[in-house]
Amino acid sequence: MEKFEAEDKDFEVLFSEKDIQQRVNELAQDISTDYSEDSDNPLLLLGVLKGATPFLVDLSRRIDHPNLLIDYIGVSSYGSETSSSREPKITLDAKIPLNGKNVIIVEDIVDTGYSIAMLLDILNAKKPKSLKVCSFLSKPGKREVEVPIDYLGFEIDPLWVQGYGLDTDEKGRNWGYIAYKK
Ligand code: IMP
Ligand code: MG
Repeated sequence: MEKFEAEDKDFEVLFSEKDIQQRVNELAQDISTDYSEDSDNPLLLLGVLKGATPFLVDLSRRIDHPNLLIDYIGVSSYGSETSSSREPKITLDAKIPLNGKNVIIVEDIVDTGYSIAMLLDILNAKKPKSLKVCSFLSKPGKREVEVPIDYLGFEIDPLWVQGYGLDTDEKGRNWGYIAYKK
């Protein structure tokens, strides 16, 4: 059901479930088109745990590709509204080998950029055929290190957001909408 009011009174809805699903459709179409001429090679969606899981599931079901693979990677980052870690670490490695595959890192949000910068370094060393970044949200105003985002859902102001995978101390990941802290 479409929610216009966040179920936590400290939060205000920023993107409704409908906004989100519409944007996911568009991103999936862009990705399907971009990889249509290389459909013999596997396209691996590599979701960053845990925040990217709802986005990755929705996206993967709408991408049209005959050889779509899914894997996950764990990265330590902060769970509260404290400052982001300058040295994020891999806490769980991907299982599927990346070499020779077209890989898209799927993230919930790019904030300072440290997590994506670290992932690009580590994953490029595994010699994928190509490596791109898809993030549902980005806060350019918070960036400390420049990173490429090849597919982006929405740019937002430097707000604290929760929902659609994004959490505050593990809470709110299950919301179908995204809300910001008032
Ligand atoms: P970065 O390394 O600073 O870009 O951090 C990215 C990670 O921080 C994201 O994958 C999220 O897990 C977390 N994060 C950043 N901003 C928010 C937010 O507003 N709400 C919830 N998590 C956030
Ligand atoms: Mg994350």
